[in-house]
Amino acid sequence: MASSGPPRGGIACIVGARPNFMKMAPLIRAFAAEPSLPAAVLIHTGQHYDFAMNDRLFRDLGLPEPDINLEVGSASHAVQTAEVMKRIEPVLDALAPACVVVVGDVNSTLAVALVATKKGIPVVHVEAGLRSYDRAMPEEVNRVLTDQISDLLYTTERAAAGNLAREGIGPERVYFAGNVMIDSLLQHRARATPPATTLAAAGAAALAADPAGFAVVTLHRPSNVDDPVALGESLAIVREVSRRLPVAWPLHPRTRANVERFGLLEAATDPRIALLPPQGYLEMLGLMAAAKLVLTDSGGVQEETTALAVPCLTMRANTERPITVDEGTNVLVGRDRANVLAVVDEVLATGGKRGRRPELWDGHAATRIAGHLAGWLAARRTSLTEAIA
Ligand code: UD1
Repeated sequence: MASSGPPRGGIACIVGARPNFMKMAPLIRAFAAEPSLPAAVLIHTGQHYDFAMNDRLFRDLGLPEPDINLEVGSASHAVQTAEVMKRIEPVLDALAPACVVVVGDVNSTLAVALVATKKGIPVVHVEAGLRSYDRAMPEEVNRVLTDQISDLLYTTERAAAGNLAREGIGPERVYFAGNVMIDSLLQHRARATPPATTLAAAGAAALAADPAGFAVVTLHRPSNVDDPVALGESLAIVREVSRRLPVAWPLHPRTRANVERFGLLEAATDPRIALLPPQGYLEMLGLMAAAKLVLTDSGGVQEETTALAVPCLTMRANTERPITVDEGTNVLVGRDRANVLAVVDEVLATGGKRGRRPELWDGHAATRIAGHLAGWLAARRTSLTEAIA
């Protein structure tokens, strides 16, 4: 690597896909503010690459340009994971980082953790210990394996430590730090784009003016959108919801591609459903904060709606984020039309669950992590020096 490139011995911070960006942005800021930590080097695997899925969020979140982009792009799970592994290896060799920080549960998270651990580079996993106990979910496999090989695990809710203990991961590796995704939300909340602006830009101004308010839908999990029957059922549910409340639905590229591939565009076309392109962070924040309710299968959206005190209906049979159900505004409704409509009606009649913001979802999780990591790296240096002496 050229001498003008990123410094050796820094903190290699890995992002790959959209939900990583809102977690890494506060960490990068907190690392820079902690004088005893080495410099952060931001590495993007390129798993997400579209402007709407990528550059726009970097800009909204104030993330710096990545120092390195591996440009892996889309592929099957095997090929995508393997490409990240192949391309990160020489980068880690050149950088010899003090540690690697991975966030969340996407393919890039596991791929980099696996390469780093075999090189003896400490792996730090932020958002560790979440479990849906559903191994059919690719993210669940990524979570379990990443946690097994991580040296230091930062958790977002107390139940995570129990999940980790059951898998043989001792408390000395685990630190309850809070939720960095909510750091981003609280930091940017006041700058959120007004929904009227977002909807007008998408040609859906009428939605913002509807006195009943509107619902926001996001669906992209393979279980809901990769199979024509499941996607057909999902669309039918959204149409029913739209009879009660007009719907703003930013379509994930995976979902849009499948709607077209399965010939379902007509079923998705309805004057009460505004199909939007993927939104920026500030636009999405504005839409969610103003929504009467949100129907989703996203992990992050379950947390964000809890922090915003907006009722959330999760179209999944399980969640790896149970605190959003126990303390927040989340209700698991599955892909069951009657179930969804019963909860929608309840929300419209009563306002739905208000919930409370969970412990340590306070906007300071990244600062806690930076402080703790500085101590951990210093202690590790001391014990390595003693071992050599
Ligand atoms: C990935 C994560 C998922 C996360 C989601 C957020 C894994 C296993 N999944 O799923 O946990 O919730 O990101 O979006 O890592 N595509 C584009 N442009 C892009 C990226 C993707 O058009 O910038 C399309 C491609 O057709 C691609 C498909 O979306 O094949 C799926 O992308 P991929 O990265 O494989 O997974 P996601 O469904 O985005």
